[in-house]
Amino acid sequence: MIKPTADLQVLIAGLSLKNPVMTASGTFGYASEFVDLVDLNRLGAIVVKGLSLEPSIGNPPPRIVETPCGMLNAIGLENVGIKAFINEKLPFLRTLSPPLIVNIYGKCIEEYCELARHIEDVDGISAIEVNISCPNVKSGGIAFGVDPQAAFDVISAVRKQVSKTLIVKLSPNVTDITQIARSVVDAGADCLSLINTLTGMVIDIETRRPKLANITGGLSGPAIRPVAVRMVWQVAQAVSVPIIGIGGIMTASDALEFLIAGASAIQVGTANFVNPRATLDIIEGIETFMVQHHIEKLSDITGTLKTG
Ligand SMILES: Cc1cc2nc3c(=O)[nH]c(=O)nc-3n(C[C@H](O)[C@H](O)[C@H](O)COP(=O)(O)O)c2cc1C
Repeated sequence: MIKPTADLQVLIAGLSLKNPVMTASGTFGYASEFVDLVDLNRLGAIVVKGLSLEPSIGNPPPRIVETPCGMLNAIGLENVGIKAFINEKLPFLRTLSPPLIVNIYGKCIEEYCELARHIEDVDGISAIEVNISCPNVKSGGIAFGVDPQAAFDVISAVRKQVSKTLIVKLSPNVTDITQIARSVVDAGADCLSLINTLTGMVIDIETRRPKLANITGGLSGPAIRPVAVRMVWQVAQAVSVPIIGIGGIMTASDALEFLIAGASAIQVGTANFVNPRATLDIIEGIETFMVQHHIEKLSDITGTLKTG
């Protein structure tokens, strides 16, 4: 008997994906690290570690601490830098079929723009994901992503540099995420991804010292999922661009929550540390759900939340 299948394809902001499951930046390296564990060609898209203009060694250790239902990290955006990425990592990534999304961050608007220019001219990169959860050193260190005007300014400047698909990754460390979402869409974002990590802190009571050398870190994993689902649902009602849901997705049913809340695709982060095959298990689980519920196409799930 032929096994029934479902159509998991999705088209978001000009990107054609064979399924809605992507890797989340910073949790999947530059993908080559997972080549023996995951059939990378089965992924919907690959998002690589956040890149800066120059290489960065990140923060001093300890940089990761486990928390109830999650982890706190202060890696400090360690990465090889855009030039080494293009010369050393991209040749392998170009051999893969899923669209490649390059995540970038800068310390000021000019750095974001220069990174975007580097990427615009390079073949084999389908989209840019702009991480705006970083401090603007020219504005007293306030993160771009927590101020609607700063978020608008950086994204409109980046938009002028790129014709590739522009995804903006939102910070959850704000009072009203819909305000930031509207600002970056007005600035030219084609798509939004949310959420990045929530700022947190863990203390060792014996030493009375923070467990992370950086004192604070970013909370990720299942602990943040209800917050992320709520924010995706709010943003989906506020803007009309597609949304990529992120935050504590460990299983297919977690992913389906985000799709029902209004996401067109999802990213898997912390789950990769627990189960390196999590992305593939989630793809299979979504397909099984669709077959069981006689759902032919993925768009019949997106944004179908019933509240009445
Ligand atoms: C160790 C680690 C490193 C991360 N590095 C980045 C990064 O470089 N750029 C970025 O935009 N997000 C980064 N993130 C955030 C994730 O991409 C994701 O938004 C967040 O962890 C929430 O998803 P999750 O709960 O599935 O992990 C990182 C997260 C972790 C845990």
